[in-house]
Amino acid sequence: MDYSRKISERLWNMPDKGELESRREETFIDDIIQKSHIEKELLSHLDEIKTVFDGGAGCGRFSILLAKKGCAVTHFDISQPMIDKAKELAAKEGVLDKITFVNGALEDLKGFKDKSFDMVISFDAPVSYTYPNQKRVIGELVRICRKRIMLSVSSRLGYLPYLANPIQKNQFILDETCEDPFVKWCIGNKENAVEAFHFSKDAAMKLYKDGLMGGESEIAEYENGGTPWCITYTFMPDELEDILKYYGAKNIKLAGPGAYARTLPRELLVKIMNDSKQRSDFLDFCHYYDSNPFVCGMGKDNLFAQGEL
Ligand SMILES: C[S@@+](CC[C@H](N)C(=O)[O-])C[C@H]1O[C@@H](n2cnc3c(N)ncnc32)[C@H](O)[C@@H]1O
Repeated sequence: MDYSRKISERLWNMPDKGELESRREETFIDDIIQKSHIEKELLSHLDEIKTVFDGGAGCGRFSILLAKKGCAVTHFDISQPMIDKAKELAAKEGVLDKITFVNGALEDLKGFKDKSFDMVISFDAPVSYTYPNQKRVIGELVRICRKRIMLSVSSRLGYLPYLANPIQKNQFILDETCEDPFVKWCIGNKENAVEAFHFSKDAAMKLYKDGLMGGESEIAEYENGGTPWCITYTFMPDELEDILKYYGAKNIKLAGPGAYARTLPRELLVKIMNDSKQRSDFLDFCHYYDSNPFVCGMGKDNLFAQGEL
């Protein structure tokens, strides 16, 4: 089995993963913007959609939303802790019976027939964690889709700025006093990260050229019993578009949720996000601006694409 899949299986099956991931979306402004963008796209594209496959569905941010809108959803994920958390949240929302939960890997979708689902979605980078099978996996997602596909994957143009700014996530912390362990780590580690930082043109050029984050050191860590972050394949926008076209998707639209917000300093983002009227107007305008394909792919996991079959 490929290392990416083995590493993903170990990482995402850590017992607290479901609980931690389910809280992240309210803590970081870039995640809130990403979620808002995807929700707006989903809710405005539900014509003729009764059945949905959500690949790498996590704790159900989108599968539960679609079930609440009346869709029959297959919630597919490699991680049992994520599925368990999603079941708990679906039960709270009263939609447990609208969702079929399946534990499986995107690398193996043989069990699903061609055009099984009206819509196929996969958000926040699950496809990027299937390296070196990412192209074939997209082909399989298209194959099982009847009408509409929406994906968001790791973006190469969005990842590259992290190589010159490892503290970038700090800009998006909504509440610096919150108890979230990742927020605490970002704040506590900020000075160290700056001190230890050294810009490497070689690392940036390598990522620009081969698109790969992680590799041999992650494999070695895995073999030593550790839990490294997934080996991640980052896409260029035109590459993602070409793959979707190659498998037969048409009318492809690309977007970059978070691009507009990245132009603003944290003080102003926090001010906007803490005022409900400004927040709602801002999220509307972000969606509009970030849907312009000329800004697509800014933000690490924010290369968004949709197409029709
Ligand atoms: C960042 S989370 C995104 C969850 C969800 N799509 C969302 O947007 O809230 C990535 C999810 O992909 C799942 N995943 C990672 N690799 C996978 C694979 N090869 N097959 C299926 N699921 C995978 C993880 O378990 C995790 O739940």
